[in-house]
Amino acid sequence: MSLFITFEGPDGSGKTTQISLLAEHLRAMGHDVLITREPGGTSIGDQIRTVLHDVKNVEMMGETEFLLYSASRAQLVREVLQPHLARGGTVLCDRFADSSMAYQGYGRELDLEAIRLITQFATGGLTPHLTIYLDLPVEVGIQRKQTAYVAQAGEWNRLDRQTLDFHRRVRQGYLKMARAEPDRWLVIDATQSIDDTQAAIRARLKTLLSSVRKVRTA
Ligand code: TYD
Repeated sequence: MSLFITFEGPDGSGKTTQISLLAEHLRAMGHDVLITREPGGTSIGDQIRTVLHDVKNVEMMGETEFLLYSASRAQLVREVLQPHLARGGTVLCDRFADSSMAYQGYGRELDLEAIRLITQFATGGLTPHLTIYLDLPVEVGIQRKQTAYVAQAGEWNRLDRQTLDFHRRVRQGYLKMARAEPDRWLVIDATQSIDDTQAAIRARLKTLLSSVRKVRTA
């Protein structure tokens, strides 16, 4: 059975750790798990990522930024995600289309309807079965990211340079999307321990898997 799970959340919310723990769990259950990320995940996507994250690109317009994320996404969907899902595999993706809605839509305040339309085109309508949002107060996220950067364990990109207000709008945007589609979203308080967060994810996954099985046998 193919399964597409995406992880969203502010920088520093622990997505990478949670993704590897979940992958371990799913592999033990026999799933063929592929981990990937946005922007990137393909050779073309990684080249686009370099342009997007380069702190020298101060003149980049919000529209350009959104279209570049969408271009990377269109490539990832067709080159990697669709083939793996078509083989019955499971995909865990670090960020997906909801990041564009949160950062470019709510954060940069670009037209939400235009983002929806272009995203539909870029993804070919591919939507996650489950989206896990690791929620963190904005200040805590920025603090964690800075600590990682100072410890040379993380990169400092163009998006990190945004104001506190920008990051607050992004968070509110995520929470709004999660409220609008509660069946797809799982919001988790990411200030909890790594183990508690992972336990909440696994509990929700169990429910999801049993409901999919019910539909299949019905
Ligand atoms: P990344 O280094 O992958 O960090 P993170 O750990 O936060 O995922 O940086 C990705 C950055 O790109 C992050 O600041 C959010 C931003 N982004 C967008 O603004 N729009 C998008 O559509 C995507 C996929 C990412």
